[in-house]
Amino acid sequence: MKKEGRGIIVVGAQFGDEGKGKIVDTLTEHSNAVVRFQGGNNAGHTIVIGEKEFRLHTIPSGIIQGKKSLIGNGVVVDPRALCIEINELEKMGVDVKPGVFGIDSRAHVIMPWQIEKDVKSEKKNGKKKIGTTCKGIGPAYEEKAARTGLRFEDLTCEKYLKKKLNAQFSKKTKKNNELKKQVFKEYSALGKKLANFEEDVSLAVNSALDAGETVLFEGAQGTFLDNDLGTYPFVTSSHPIAGGACTGSGVSPLKITRTEGVVKAYITRVGHGPLPTEIQGDLAEKISSRGHEYGTTTGRKRRIGWFDAPIIRRANLYNAFNGVHLTKLDVLEEINPIKICVAYQYQGQKLDLIPTEQKILEQAKPIYEEIEGFKKNSKENWSKIASDGRKKGLDALPENAKAYALKIQELIKVPLLSVNVGPDRKEIIPLKGFLKN
Ligand code: IMP
Ligand code: MG
Repeated sequence: MKKEGRGIIVVGAQFGDEGKGKIVDTLTEHSNAVVRFQGGNNAGHTIVIGEKEFRLHTIPSGIIQGKKSLIGNGVVVDPRALCIEINELEKMGVDVKPGVFGIDSRAHVIMPWQIEKDVKSEKKNGKKKIGTTCKGIGPAYEEKAARTGLRFEDLTCEKYLKKKLNAQFSKKTKKNNELKKQVFKEYSALGKKLANFEEDVSLAVNSALDAGETVLFEGAQGTFLDNDLGTYPFVTSSHPIAGGACTGSGVSPLKITRTEGVVKAYITRVGHGPLPTEIQGDLAEKISSRGHEYGTTTGRKRRIGWFDAPIIRRANLYNAFNGVHLTKLDVLEEINPIKICVAYQYQGQKLDLIPTEQKILEQAKPIYEEIEGFKKNSKENWSKIASDGRKKGLDALPENAKAYALKIQELIKVPLLSVNVGPDRKEIIPLKGFLKN
């Protein structure tokens, strides 16, 4: 009988930085290909393998294991940043070659004026700014929607690049002519460097699935940064939810067999926008420094909050998770008590889901339950707990840590597929349903 292909989507269930990189990296071992479907180099994954730390922005993390790594049509690519990333990976011994790494010809290209616009508009908006990564992501998607953008196929063809730049710099001033020349020179050279990676990613992904292979769809950012369904306007300009995987890679929803969420044991957010369970002061500092909660891309400090169940319930509504991976549980050691937001209170009503309207969200107050904390363990101890966890599952955890994980599972009504107690690949406790793709 023909082997059925498996399409597995992995997305962040909060505001990004849930630890997707490590989970995707682990699942990659059992997959044939990994594809990114949205966002650009605003994303950042840190993957730790033994002594080596890999930082990825645009390239799917499958590249580290030599798996087919693809950039779908829904991604926006900064060719300057991509070339730097390729160089850095190669320096660390990762082979980035055509046939393994591919970029869809329809992916849009981030151009220098878009980066400038992002920076300028953030400056101009002062306190009202979104807190973007200033990588030109928003303006690139704006031009895509306005149908004036440049696609990867334009970058790799001098004739088309010229045509598109002529339209962009249509006013024939001396300054514009000079700028156009400079951009053409730099970007046609970048196009030449990257041309061999160009391919029809939608065909590659569909062919792999049709041949019975396993394809991992790697989400960037998180559910509540989704342009439609997130905390608008404090969102990114693409669609990090599971549905985005289909439009962003040219695959039918019927070929998706599974969605998995990544959920941090607390919550973080970079940039502005609502974070109802936000913590300030020493406690936030403690979590932030223990969890290394600084952006991989911008180095900015992330805001910190207690675990928010109404957020995950809504994420599950949009993504229908088969299960979730709970990450960074070890970071909460020595914090006592640990608070969990179980619902919101609004005008005498109890809300199980985070409200969709900003005006309600502004007034809704988290309802907390307190859970007894667990004591500090050394790094070695956590590694041992994880290794025991391969046999014992959650029983390997300190009793209160186990109670906390189970409480989360009960509140969100989604099975835990794994519990993570450290950044290394090995520091993962697989549970029932793990790798059951
Ligand atoms: P942009 O994606 O650079 O336009 O930024 C829009 C919002 O999304 C800002 O709040 C950013 O901090 C946030 N954001 C973008 N990429 C990431 C990410 O990979 N992790 C977390 N937040 C992100
Ligand atoms: Mg990140």
